[in-house]
Amino acid sequence: MSVVKKFSVPRGTCDTLPSEIHQWHHIENTARRLFSVYGYREVRTPYFEETGLFARSLGQTSDVVQKQMLNLFFSAKEEGENRPQNKSRDDQPTAGLSLRPEATASIVRSYIENSFHKKESLSKFYYIGPMFRGERPQKGRLRQFHQIGVEAIGPDSSSPYLDAEVIALSVQLLNDFGLTGFQLKINSLGSPEDKKKLSDVLRAALQKDLAKLCPDCQNRFERNVFRILDCKNLECKTIVSQLKRTESHLSKSSQAYFSEVKDALTILNVPFEVSPYLVRGLDYYTHTVFEISHSSLGSQDALGAGGRYNSLLTDLGADAEDSIGAIGFALGIERILLVRNSQIQDTTPSHMDVFIVTLDPQGRQDAFTTGFKILREVRSKGISAEMNYARASLKSQMRLADKLGARYVVIIGENELKEQMAVLKDMEQSLQDKIQFNKISTSLKEKLKG
Ligand code: HAM
Repeated sequence: MSVVKKFSVPRGTCDTLPSEIHQWHHIENTARRLFSVYGYREVRTPYFEETGLFARSLGQTSDVVQKQMLNLFFSAKEEGENRPQNKSRDDQPTAGLSLRPEATASIVRSYIENSFHKKESLSKFYYIGPMFRGERPQKGRLRQFHQIGVEAIGPDSSSPYLDAEVIALSVQLLNDFGLTGFQLKINSLGSPEDKKKLSDVLRAALQKDLAKLCPDCQNRFERNVFRILDCKNLECKTIVSQLKRTESHLSKSSQAYFSEVKDALTILNVPFEVSPYLVRGLDYYTHTVFEISHSSLGSQDALGAGGRYNSLLTDLGADAEDSIGAIGFALGIERILLVRNSQIQDTTPSHMDVFIVTLDPQGRQDAFTTGFKILREVRSKGISAEMNYARASLKSQMRLADKLGARYVVIIGENELKEQMAVLKDMEQSLQDKIQFNKISTSLKEKLKG
């Protein structure tokens, strides 16, 4: 006998089952409500883009571009157009298409392509959707995961008050989802010149320990020293933890900007910690960066992160004279749910307006077909209704009605057929009545209104 292969959900992805979906709806609905309060509008961009868009935005030396891009290949006909043709210095394909590892680059691409800066001085976008990274899966780290994020982009975006507002929004979201015990860390990378200074300061500070760093970090030392700060290797982490905390790389104006961000956060009553070596894994950040973590998540402890990315607009082709700045963040839904489930016990809400029970003698199905017609009629009035399609006892049909959380049960058997009147049971109040078949839907509609 041949064994038929059974398929499993791909590694690093998961099914969201009906028993869990209410939690996702809660998160998404709460976010949508809050975003509209803050003036953000939804934008949907494709799930894949040109690989070069991500390489240029996130940085050729970022882990995401180096190791985690999921590239797409198309049929032979389109091959010439879409297959990676040229390799970059780092041997990464820069042509071709890739699944989006994040949404900021796509939104900036869309902002420029649709000339939003000509229509409004500040555009506030939000998105909710899947992102894809070819990472080694572990708790809180998936290959397909979901983000909720915002991006505030425009010539009028460069205000420290907007930085504070965006950070406060991310915190309020987590509060509204019902989470507690998370920590907000902020830092300023300063202008691109300050960032360059910071990398020099870091190289000078790490030079004496270079030989002790892991091979990856020794490589990062020249190519992108910031990445060393995020390394999970124990020895590298110890070396990094001993680095002196400094803001010396920041120019006077960057320091003043950062002070205003901190003051505005204090005005908004948002508790934060300044973390001088918070640099983030993506290259596009300048000035304010932030991360929100929760210790219960273990090594993948970031619930969300974001920051300012003023240079990305010109890097992707916007006119420098338009001085378009931007700031945003993204929260990871799966990680939010991991924390939420450890803190909140909520049960699956089940609700059905009416369940139709039918009872026929062996070999007959008159009650069933009558019930089947009534089912369609009540549904056409917008009443949620269900019945059992297989022959079953009264007891097992009532058990199913109960499991579905039915508010009312309509029972049709031989007697009811004779009288053309069904039994109507109010499950909440344990009351029972008789009702004419042709009045069931209007009567239920009336009862459910009250
Ligand atoms: P990110 O730090 O790469 O930033 O991702 C943001 C959040 O997405 C993380 O804090 C985490 O909760 C979640 N996340 C990332 N990778 C995974 C994964 N493999 N599995 C599960 N969850 C994950 C960004 O993506 C930036 N685009 C944020 C931003 C928006 N910056 C400015 N605007």
